[in-house]
Formats: sequence, structure tokens, C-alpha cells
Amino acid sequence: MKIKAVLNDLQAYKPGKPIEEVQKELGLTSIAKLASNENPLGSSKAAKAAAIAALSDTSIYPDGYAVNLRAELADFYKVDGEQLVIGAGLDEVIQIVSRAVLTAGDNIVQATPTFSQYALHADIEGVEVKSVPVDTDGFHDLKAMMEAVDHNTKILWLCNPNNPTGTYFSHEELINVLSRVPDHVLVIVDEAYAEYAIAEDYPDTMPLIEKHSNLMVMRTFSKAYGLAALRIGFGVTSKKLNDKLNVVRLPFNTSRVAQSAASVALADQAFIAECRKNNRLGMAQWEAFLSANNYDFYPSQTNFIFFNIERETAPVFDALLKRGYIVRAGLRPGWLRITIGTAEQNEGCIAALKAILAN
Ligand SMILES: Cc1ncc(COP(=O)(O)O)c(C=O)c1O
Repeated sequence: MKIKAVLNDLQAYKPGKPIEEVQKELGLTSIAKLASNENPLGSSKAAKAAAIAALSDTSIYPDGYAVNLRAELADFYKVDGEQLVIGAGLDEVIQIVSRAVLTAGDNIVQATPTFSQYALHADIEGVEVKSVPVDTDGFHDLKAMMEAVDHNTKILWLCNPNNPTGTYFSHEELINVLSRVPDHVLVIVDEAYAEYAIAEDYPDTMPLIEKHSNLMVMRTFSKAYGLAALRIGFGVTSKKLNDKLNVVRLPFNTSRVAQSAASVALADQAFIAECRKNNRLGMAQWEAFLSANNYDFYPSQTNFIFFNIERETAPVFDALLKRGYIVRAGLRPGWLRITIGTAEQNEGCIAALKAILAN
């Protein structure tokens, strides 16, 4: 048996150890996971109740087209339901679009560093990945990214705000990209952290799809909505492209539980507003600590902060873990990415980091 040659060079995603295991191993009473940008406030109570209620029907397949959720999302974002592809998290939507659009000989253009899944799926499809470094302030270098686009470019990936830098580009900058990029390039704006963005000029992307049929916007219920475990996210694009994305999508890819919870979560915008507010307070705690100690960080519009501790990160990661804090190292030498937690988690993690870095 022969597998795709490209897979010989690729490794499966290795998730971190389960929290319970780490806790037992290190004899800790509690652990704060600040590594994957989950919501420290959990999810809307009503959404959780809806998920539990949906469990009563486990023998029946879910609605494969997610008709109710689709209609609610269409209404909320003022788009047509037929423009939506709903996936088991954005991870799946990224896979669907890569499978539908990319063929060997193509290339994608993305920033670096950025979310790892764009390149992974390009690799699997045998497609060249053109990675354009973010500028010195951590922003997408949109000019250089546009220059990297050529006649073989199929997707221009824009992560806004960007993971892991947390930086964003404005509505005007997006319009500029869309007006200049050739029609054969699908521009995908991954807005996984949009609900946390507070900048006034953060793009209002959905209305742009009508004019730009080569634009796709991605959103998820995993971050601010706090439903990461249920796996649900979606893309919005032209009906023509979306029709084909839904061919690639597995017929029953999102569960009844996830669909029900997402519907209710979408309706509970008061919870999202509270999370956004809490997040900015936590961000201020981190920024104050980093500024006071002269650690370089990028201004973040997300629920995480990326900063330079100017030393090897692996020992710092281990030392934080022993004190009960799981953070993200290994994205860039010397830099850590930490999810904004509750006020108490932030305070504890900052104190732990301060003590570790003082040595
Ligand atoms: C920028 C970005 N896009 C997409 C995802 C995938 O999210 P999910 O599959 O949980 O919707 C993540 C998760 O960390 C992310 O940071």
C-alpha cells in the first residue's frame, strides 16, 4: 500500500496532555489552561442547557444542513443561508475549503506566524505555501502578501486578528486588498477572534461578500462563545462557491448538540458583551505587567497576548506548569502566548511568571 508521498514528511497534531493527567502527575489541586484561547468564563448558561436538552435524541442523525442554525446565522449576519458552510469547528471549514479549491501546482499565500492549519492542508493537497513574515510590529504585511500573489495563487489567507500575534488590520486595509487582488484568488479572512476585537476600524467583513465573490469570512463558536468542545464554526462566501463547499462537507458533520447550543449562544449576545469586557480588563492586567517589566508585546485585539521573554521558553513553560499554568511556547523563539483568563488566573499566572523570570 502506498500513501500520498507528502504525508511522509508530515506529523499528526499532538495535543497537550489532558489537564487531569498533568494535575495528577504534578500533584496540583488546580490547573489553569491558558494555552488554547478558550473562554475562561465558559459559555452562556442557556447554551449549555440547550446542549444538555439536545442529548435526549442521540439515536437520530442530526440535521445535516443545520437548517435552524443556518437561518439564525443568516439573519444575524444579514446574509443568505445558502452562503453558509457550517463545520465541526473552523478546523473543518479550513479543511473543506482547502480540499475544494487546492490542486497540485497551486500556491497559497499566508502570513507567518499565523494559524497552522492553513499550511497543513495546503501541504496535504501538494500545494506550495508562500509565507510572508509579519512586520516588526506583528502586523500582516499586506503589501508584501499582495506582491507574493501570482497567477498560481488560489487562496490568500488573512487571519484577522492574527493568531498568534493578536494584531489586526482595518476595514480600509481590507478594502484595499480586495480592490487589488486578482479575481482568481480566494481571499479568506479568518475572524475566529472577532468577538473580542474592540478597535473601531476593525473590518465589517460580511457586507463585503456581496460585492466580492472571491471573499470568504470565517467565524467560530469555539472562542468567545465558549463552545470549543462541541466543535462548530462556519464560513460565509458566494453562493456559487458555497454550493461546492457543501459537496465536500460530510453529510452529518455537526452534531445536534452543537447546533442547538450554537443557536442559543448566538442569541445570548449579553454573554458575549460580558466576555469582551472581562477580556479587556484581563488584557490590561497583562499589559501593565509586561510594560512595567519592559517585555515586548504586540497590541492584541484577541483573548490572548504574545510577548517576548528574551530567553529560552521551554524551561519557563515547565516552571509555569509546575505552578499550575499551561501556556503556549514554541511559536517563536523567546516568545510566549498566553490566553487571558479570569482576573484571578491572570494575577496568579503573572505572579508565577514574575517569580520564574526573576531567577
Ligand atoms: C485563527 C484560528 N482559526 C481557526 C481556529 C480553529 O478553531 P475551531 O476549529 O475550534 O473553530 C483557531 C483555533 O485556535 C484559530 O486560532
